[in-house]
Amino acid sequence: MDFTVNPAAVTDATVTVPGDKSISHRALMLGSVAAGQTDISGFLAGEDCLTTLAAMSAMGIRIEQASSTDVVVHGRGLHGLGPPDGPLDLGNSGTAMRLMTGLLCGQQFDSTLTGDESLSSRPMQRVITPLDEMGARIDSHDGKPPLTIHGKSQLQAIDYEMPVASAQVKSAVLLAGLYADGTTSVVEPAVTRDHTERMLESMGVKVARSDNVISLEGGQSLQSCHVQVPGDLSSAAFVILAALISESADVLLENIGVNPTRTGVIDILQAMGAEISLENPRLLGQEPVADIRVRASNLQGGPVDPALVSLAIDEFPVLFVAAAAARGKTVFSGIGELRVKESDRIAAMAAGLRLLGIEVDESDDGAVVHGGRFTGGQVQSFGDHRIAMALAVAGTVAADTVRISDVAAVDTSFPGFCNCMAAVGADIQASQDASP
Ligand code: S3P
Repeated sequence: MDFTVNPAAVTDATVTVPGDKSISHRALMLGSVAAGQTDISGFLAGEDCLTTLAAMSAMGIRIEQASSTDVVVHGRGLHGLGPPDGPLDLGNSGTAMRLMTGLLCGQQFDSTLTGDESLSSRPMQRVITPLDEMGARIDSHDGKPPLTIHGKSQLQAIDYEMPVASAQVKSAVLLAGLYADGTTSVVEPAVTRDHTERMLESMGVKVARSDNVISLEGGQSLQSCHVQVPGDLSSAAFVILAALISESADVLLENIGVNPTRTGVIDILQAMGAEISLENPRLLGQEPVADIRVRASNLQGGPVDPALVSLAIDEFPVLFVAAAAARGKTVFSGIGELRVKESDRIAAMAAGLRLLGIEVDESDDGAVVHGGRFTGGQVQSFGDHRIAMALAVAGTVAADTVRISDVAAVDTSFPGFCNCMAAVGADIQASQDASP
């Protein structure tokens, strides 16, 4: 599938975006090993979360989808998962694979996790190393999927200092820690999203948290709860940017998750001069939410604070577009992790922006983006949802039509992306025709 983006004025509107991907995955996994019925509202029915849903169902959990956003998980308790009939295919989802590896290494059965071409090339050693240390037995292909997780391991708690700031690794170790003897602790080199900790707490698990150390004692049971999933800030970011770089739009995005471990994108954009405000801040269950108002703004480049990287880790593709639309140059540093996401996002964005007339200097773990004016052109998404959507946002203000190839992966995180963008005036057409 391709996108054809015709330049169009983004206008005033009030919109919502689909539910948060990270929270939706966790609600399915934790709800499955909780005792009782977990009702999930605002669930993201994107392909990534649907692979998690299928995997938990394959392990004997009854999950009902009353509507695309309302899901009921009939949890069977900490030891209630059963052996799947075959390998669990987790598609494109790194979150599903890394969190599930942690969850499955404390089970009494063997399991195998597979994924698509992109997922099969992503590093899994970062979860295998700490889980091995806990006594898990995991086979991989040189640290990459498929992973075979051998059951019946007696896990021991560890104190683990993470070499990379990764919420996925932290969550995998904490989930394994539920099945371990003793107290498992994870030390983060930088703060990462804390949805696992919040949801565990709301399911009755005692989690000790200080600045950068998170600990829990094994053997604690989870009690089902109602999980209300807010709109995904990572999806909202595309709409936010389209409004910011427009001529004069004033857009309100309602009910968006603003957990402080996720809001780096707002801080970075505000430092560039963006007019973004959080209205009606409130709590939705265990998660902070707000309505986000965005007004067209003149963005100014500059150095991006590396301390904000882990708080904006999925938003760099769209931040590269912000930098390209800003005056002057924007310097990104400490973003080497982007090279091991669904694609090499530094290389993918540099390639796409250059084809649209923007100068980008790339380094191993950074980039300098020189502000300019987007031309039209034909660019690639490299099969990465966030690259496709970021380049589509650039197309809204380009001098001519922008065509983006291989965009089907947008459905992994943002089903309805084109319609949502149309609601703010953008003209993005999806077609099955493969362009050269
Ligand atoms: C996620 C954590 C992040 C992020 C991913 C979702 C999560 O990955 O990039 O899209 O749900 O825990 P890392 O924790 O590996 O940086």
